[in-house]
Amino acid sequence: MESRSFARRLAAAALAVSQLASAQNPGTATPEVHPPLTTWKCTTGGGCVAQNTSVVLDWNYRWMHTATGYDSCTTSSGINSTLCPNEATCAQNCVIEGANYTAAGVQTSGSSLTLNQYVQGSTGLTSASPRTYLLDSDGNYVMMQLLNQELSFDVDLSTLPCGENGALYLSEMSATGGRNEYNTGGANYGSGYCDAQCPVETFKNGTLNTNNSGFCCNEMDILEANSRANAFTPHPCNAAGTDCDKGGCGFNPYAQGNKNYWAPGGTLDTSKPFTVTTQFATNDGTKTGTLAFITRKYVQNGQVLASAVSGGDTITTSWCNAADSSAATFGSLTTMGQALGRGMVLVFSVWNDNGQYMNWLDSGNNGPCSSTEGNPATIQQNYPDTHVVFSNIKWGDIGSTVNTGGSVSSSSSSASKTTSTPTSVKTASTPVKSTSTTSSVKTTTTANGATQTHWGQCGGQGYSGPTQCAAPYACQTQNAYYAQCL
Ligand SMILES: *[C@@H]1O[C@H](CO)[C@@H](O)[C@H](O)[C@H]1NC(C)=O
Ligand SMILES: *[C@@H]1O[C@H](CO)[C@@H](O)[C@H](O)[C@H]1NC(C)=O
Ligand SMILES: *[C@@H]1O[C@H](CO)[C@@H](O)[C@H](O)[C@H]1NC(C)=O
Ligand SMILES: *[C@@H]1O[C@H](CO)[C@@H](O)[C@H](O)[C@H]1NC(C)=O
Ligand SMILES: *[C@@H]1O[C@H](CO)[C@@H](O)[C@H](O)[C@H]1NC(C)=O
Repeated sequence: MESRSFARRLAAAALAVSQLASAQNPGTATPEVHPPLTTWKCTTGGGCVAQNTSVVLDWNYRWMHTATGYDSCTTSSGINSTLCPNEATCAQNCVIEGANYTAAGVQTSGSSLTLNQYVQGSTGLTSASPRTYLLDSDGNYVMMQLLNQELSFDVDLSTLPCGENGALYLSEMSATGGRNEYNTGGANYGSGYCDAQCPVETFKNGTLNTNNSGFCCNEMDILEANSRANAFTPHPCNAAGTDCDKGGCGFNPYAQGNKNYWAPGGTLDTSKPFTVTTQFATNDGTKTGTLAFITRKYVQNGQVLASAVSGGDTITTSWCNAADSSAATFGSLTTMGQALGRGMVLVFSVWNDNGQYMNWLDSGNNGPCSSTEGNPATIQQNYPDTHVVFSNIKWGDIGSTVNTGGSVSSSSSSASKTTSTPTSVKTASTPVKSTSTTSSVKTTTTANGATQTHWGQCGGQGYSGPTQCAAPYACQTQNAYYAQCL
């Protein structure tokens, strides 16, 4: 459902970068400084290890302008086709700018990310509605491989009224964001977005989209929620990438009949933060198995709070196929599991919906909201401060990220009984796993044994990835925040 929010696809920007010697990089008006966000990768044996991750704003939100001046390369209806008839010409004519994250409504602090729906601009309150991705220290997206794994985070939805959607989900984007010779920023500039609504993106994975075709990819909605309702929803796509299960088999406790669960003061008190854990269990308890079921756990004040009337907060293939007549066409949980096994990009956003007021999430059978309360104009007037906070993001072995008080529920007899050992979360104590330096094949290696590829980032303030470039490329400083292998 996510892409509906982008009615405002104002700057359908291209992330092309000039190849002229004078402007061989992203624009220089605003440096791209990724807000750091500590996350944790966990194993049952080794606890949780802090990751040097950050967030990056989607490229559609950026200013793309002429390389020789400051005329916009986008128009109200997309790219300026005079300046950008194809990606090579576009890269000569246009550059993409770094983002002002404050103005974009994005703030981080330690392991906490805040996304604001509205920001105060020079002309008053404007809708920022940011969409961001989790970026790794090497300048590529973190590829979360969650088959037979779990993902946990804390969320504060207390300021999100009817009609808002604080979303944390996975899309099967390319790790580099489609970085290529005409899109040298790639993931560093938030490029390459796709999802199961098949949005029409100006660029598809670094290639100019000249025929307005959709860009489909597998999407797993971990949480789409406000303080009144929530859903988690698999959206598998066909192998050709031409269509997806757009509706999906969403699990919403209210729609399941548990109407007093998700509410301010409810069983799960949404006026306060809580922990959300999602487990992706396979039929054989291995990372190569078939996704058998998805289980949700909510923890608040140290208590696991089950939400469903019966059967647990669990999506199985049979439940999915019964709830959603198109699921089987797209391979249902099996397809979703294959994407989770390959790796998906973590997306965070906050949005509201001018067309349908988010009724599919929180109105009618789905929640207590009236069909008109979610009108963005009403939200802006009554809840100008509405924002979502995601924090303490951890992923890894089932049972390793948080103490959810036990194993995954046993809706599949063949599923493994995972260890229920409450794993102590070792935060920043990076156990030096001194990777056995078998780097004899590598030409140049850094301390951590990695080289950066062509176009990749190799330096800059706040950057902690590889600083050596693979031959024959050299690390060239573009600004204080960005050096690149060229
Ligand atoms: C994070 O960066 C610090 C400082 O550069 C480094 O010591 C640590 O090993 C990095 N952690 C990971 C998981 O890469
Ligand atoms: C597209 O760019 C050309 C060249 O800079 C300019 O003349 C034209 O006005 C632009 N078109 C729109 C619709 O902005
Ligand atoms: C970023 O935007 C904020 C708020 O809109 C503004 O106060 C600040 O000056 C901007 N920063 C830069 C570097 O332009
Ligand atoms: C996206 O682009 C990257 C880099 O150019 C490429 O390796 C990958 O296969 C592409 N993915 C898709 C889905 O086209
Ligand atoms: C759009 O163009 C791409 C190549 O750029 C092609 O693969 C695709 O089939 C086209 N789609 C449609 C709907 O014409």
